Amino acid sequence: MSDPDSVPFTDIYVDDAIVDRVADALRSTRYVKGPELEAFEREFAEECGVEHAVGVSSGTAALLLSLEAAGVGGSEDEQVFVPGNTFFATASPALKLGATPVFVDVDPETYTMDPADLEEKVAGAKNPSAVMPVHIYGHLADVDAITAVADDYDLVVVEDACQAHFAERDGHVAGTAGDAGAFSFYPSKNMTVGGDGGMLVTDRDDVAESARRLRNHGRDGDGVHRALGLNYRLSEVHAAVGREQLRHVRRWNEGRNGAAQRYTERLGSVPEVVTPTERDGAFHVYHLYVVQVPASERDEFRASLARQGIETGLHYETPLHRHPSLAGHAEETTLEVTDRLYERIVSLPMHPRITEVEIDRVCSAVEAYFDGDDGREGDGDRR
Ligand SMILES: Cc1ncc(COP(=O)(O)O)c(C=O)c1O
Repeated sequence: MSDPDSVPFTDIYVDDAIVDRVADALRSTRYVKGPELEAFEREFAEECGVEHAVGVSSGTAALLLSLEAAGVGGSEDEQVFVPGNTFFATASPALKLGATPVFVDVDPETYTMDPADLEEKVAGAKNPSAVMPVHIYGHLADVDAITAVADDYDLVVVEDACQAHFAERDGHVAGTAGDAGAFSFYPSKNMTVGGDGGMLVTDRDDVAESARRLRNHGRDGDGVHRALGLNYRLSEVHAAVGREQLRHVRRWNEGRNGAAQRYTERLGSVPEVVTPTERDGAFHVYHLYVVQVPASERDEFRASLARQGIETGLHYETPLHRHPSLAGHAEETTLEVTDRLYERIVSLPMHPRITEVEIDRVCSAVEAYFDGDDGREGDGDRR
C-alpha cells in the first residue's frame, strides 16, 4: 500500500468522460484519418489562435515535420540553433534531417534560450538555417528577441512548445510566433492523449500542407506519393482523448500556476533555494517546478525528501550538448549558465491536483533539510 503521506511527482487525469470517448472511438472502428482527428486539430488550432494544427504521433514527430516542412535540411552543412537546456528530442530531428545542431546558452533566470548568445553564434556561423526556442518547464523563451535575430539572418523558427501548452508571453501563445510550433502529449505533459502523441501548429499554408503529406507517407489525396514521408499519424482513439483533455487544460494550467505561487511564497524565504522566475507579461504553465539548490547538497537533499515519500526529478540529468550520442555530430562546447544550472536543478512535485497540504509538506521538508532538522544524523543546521 502506498504511504498516505507520500507526495507523488505527477498525476495523470482520467475520468468517465475520457473513458467514454475512448469506447466511442473504438466502437466507431474508424481508427485513423477520421473525424476525431479532424475535430481535435480544428479545436487545438482555435485554442492557439492559428490557422492550422496537424496531429502527429509524438512531439518529436511534430518537431521533425515542422523543420522538414519549413525546408530545413535541404542543403549541406545547415546549422540549427538549440538551447543547451532541453530534452534530447529538440536536437535529434535536426540531425535526422542532416543539419548540425549549434548549442546556445540560456538566460540564468528563465532557463530559456539567451537571445544575445544566439545572436553571437548566428553571426559567426557559416550556414545558419533555423532556430528552435524551447519553452522549457512551461515558460516562454523571449520569442520577440529570438524572432528579431531570425529575421535578420533569414532563419526558420520552430518553437519547441512540448512543455508549454497555452503558456503566454508578451502577447504570444506558445508555438505561434514562428514558422511552426510543436507540442507533445507524452503522458506527463500538461495535457495528454492517453499515449504518445503530438501536434504541429502553423499559420503557414505551405508548412501545414507539407506536414500533412509527410505524416502520411508523403501521400496526397489522389494516392500519389509526392514526398518521402513516413507514418507519423495520430490515431482516432488518441485524438478523442486529446479533445476531452483540451477542455480542461487551461484550468489545469491555472492549477499548476497557483501551486507554483504557493511553493514560491514559502521557498522564497529559504536562502539556499532559488525559485523559478516568471517574467512580467508571461503566464508560466509550470509543466515542471524546478528549483536550484547548492550543487554539493543536491544528492543528499533529494535523498532526504525521498525518505519522506516526496518524489523529485532531474530535468535533465545531462545538458543537451553533453550527450555522448551527439559527439562527432555537433561542435563541442561549454555553456556557462547551462552547465552550472545542471549541477543545481531539482524538480519538485507538480501537477494541477496537488493539494495545499502536499505543497506545504514538501516545503516543510525543504526547510527542515536546510535547518538540519530532517531527522538525519549530522551536525544540525546546514547553513
Ligand atoms: C522539450 C521537449 N521537446 C521534445 C519532446 C519530445 O516529445 P515526445 O516525447 O512526445 O516525442 C519533449 C517531451 O518528451 C520535451 O519535453
